[in-house]
Formats: sequence, C-alpha cells, structure tokens
Amino acid sequence: MANLIAGNWKMNKTAKEAAEFVRELKPLIKDSTEEVALCVPFTCLESVGREMGDSGIKLGAQDMFWLDKGAYTGEISAEMLLDLGVEYVIIGHSERRKLFGDTDETVNNKLKAAIRHGLKPILCVGESLETRQAGITREFIKGQIRGAFEDLKEEEVAEITIAYEPIWAIGTGLTATPEQAGETTGIIKRFTETLYNKSVADKVRVLYGGSMNASNAEALLQQKTISGGLIGGASLKPVDFAAIVNHGKN
Ligand code: PGA
Repeated sequence: MANLIAGNWKMNKTAKEAAEFVRELKPLIKDSTEEVALCVPFTCLESVGREMGDSGIKLGAQDMFWLDKGAYTGEISAEMLLDLGVEYVIIGHSERRKLFGDTDETVNNKLKAAIRHGLKPILCVGESLETRQAGITREFIKGQIRGAFEDLKEEEVAEITIAYEPIWAIGTGLTATPEQAGETTGIIKRFTETLYNKSVADKVRVLYGGSMNASNAEALLQQKTISGGLIGGASLKPVDFAAIVNHGKN
C-alpha cells in the first residue's frame, strides 16, 4: 500500500497564499511515488484545487457536517466539498474534539456521511499525556475506534484512513518514538481485525501524526504498521513538506 503524506494546514493561509504554496510545492515533489494530500481551510479549497491541476496531489478538507442541507449556520456538507473536487476529509481531529465539541458519536455520524458520499475520511484518534501516563492508552484508543466505527459495515471501514495522533505530540515538537508510534498503530490494526476481520484491517491505512518532520519521518514510516503521516506545522512551508514527501531520498 502506498504511503499517504497529508498536510493539515489547520487555520492558516489565505486563498492566494495557498495557491502560491501549491505552485512552489509541485516541482519539489514531482518525482515522488507517495500519495500526497493537502487538507486546507474551506476558503482555500477552490484556489488549491485549481493550482493542483494534473499534479496528482489530492485535495482534502479538515471537517464536515453529517447532514446534507438545511438550517445549520456555519456548517459545510459533503456535497459542497465534492463540488470543489475534495477527495479526503479529516474527521475527529483532537482540536475539534477538544475545542469544538466533537464526540465519538458526532465523529461516527460524520464518518458515515463522508463514506455515503464517497469522500475518503481520515479519522483522527490519540491519547492525552495524562492518559498515557496513567497507562491506559490501549483502552482509550480502542474506545475511540469502537465509538467511531459504531454500526459501520466492513466495506465502509475499509474506506477509512486512521491517523494516530498522540495529543501530547501535536504542535509540541515532541514526537512519539518510532517504537511508541509502531506499538499504538499496531493496536489500532489488531483491534480493527478483532472488530471486523484481517482483510478489512489490511485495507485500513494507519498514519502517524504529531510533530512529524523531515528528520523523523523516515524512522516513523519504516514501522510496518505506519502507512503515512498527517502533518501540521511542517506542512506549512513547501520546502519542509516536500522534504517529508521525499523522505529517505537525501
Ligand atoms: P503537528 O500537527 O504536525 O503540527 O504536530 C499534526 C496534526 O495536528 O495533524
């Protein structure tokens, strides 16, 4: 399975800055065989989509609502994303869970809606420092996965990419060691197999996220249960992001 290297810009860049980023990025990654996606603010989707052209870079959003239309001020539907050429959508990022009220239940609703519309969800899970220090990471992650997958059929789960993002590593410069990341992504893979079966678990791609950068990417991506990265801070400059996409080639 090809790695997916996905940038998560969070609330950064105007539409114009976003287009400039893509113009600079394209030549830097033209020889890469990795799958590359940019999950950008809603307001950048159009300019980034246009600038990507036939580069093969995939367009991604950072969230969506689960209903199709109606009186939901400020929300964005799957249909609206598809209309702009969006392929991937991040669901349940820890910042949305912490700051904007996402729960396992709303994450489950969003996953179902994304899959129903043919969008590819990147489901985020990950433990806080307190949870890790209490030694209950395994149970916590399993709980998040169980909640997210509620009532999903195996062919639906097979469409999901999971990003394991320990909260203590996000934006902090602290990275999980390859062993820690490998262990928890392994737990995710095995639990998916327990809930469904091996063929589904084999299809679910698991990424690592949390201060991934050019110097730690290679070691993390060498873990056999890690199939890519979700990158925040280091995805904001074309040179930094390209160095991750081109990992192992320096
Ligand atoms: P970071 O963010 O790379 O800045 O730690 C990752 C994320 O939140 O997706």
